[in-house]
Amino acid sequence: MSLRLGDTAPNFKATTTEGEIDFYEYLGNGWGILFSHPADYTPVCTTELGKTAALQEEFAKRNAKVLAVSVDPLDKHKGWVNDINETQNVNVGFPLIADEDRTVATLYDMIHPNASATATVRSLFIIGPDKVVKLMITYPASTGRNFQEVLRVLDSLQLTSNYSVSTPADWKDGEDVIIGGTISTEDAYTKFPKGVKVVKPYLRYTPQPNK
Ligand code: BEZ
Repeated sequence: MSLRLGDTAPNFKATTTEGEIDFYEYLGNGWGILFSHPADYTPVCTTELGKTAALQEEFAKRNAKVLAVSVDPLDKHKGWVNDINETQNVNVGFPLIADEDRTVATLYDMIHPNASATATVRSLFIIGPDKVVKLMITYPASTGRNFQEVLRVLDSLQLTSNYSVSTPADWKDGEDVIIGGTISTEDAYTKFPKGVKVVKPYLRYTPQPNK
């Protein structure tokens, strides 16, 4: 059965461009971003890995480790990383998993046979420090993902796991957030000393509490 939000992310051992890893050990107590791409030496994938590499510091600031996966072999990954570094002006510093036997692809349901019988689709999972799946997105091969959006979701997940708030549509770090529905408006004034704006009884905002 395929994974769903709230499920425990399956652990695995894998061969990667950074050596042999145990997924859980690699993540430690931090957050994880596991994302698949269809194939090495393809244009959209090259830009996706390049963007991810350009954002490595941003992921590190958020205590998040990134891993890419496809069913291509290790030597192919290694050669392609040189191309990514050269063409995208980056230095890929995260592991690319060589999932030749499809262990990871199967555990995370990354092959969608009606899209491609052999290649992984563009799946992306955010995994929390508790090893629970917090986000899943799936894009087709023809559409590159927006890695700024991945950072934005990570910001929202990290905020909402620590405070009784949610983030509204198109929210960005630093903007007002929505007060959780279980908190009475009376309690909200105490809980959120930066201010409470009541638009409707069910729609109440407060400045981002951790800023
Ligand atoms: C690409 O990365 O450009 C790509 C990969 C597989 C199918 C289509 C596009």
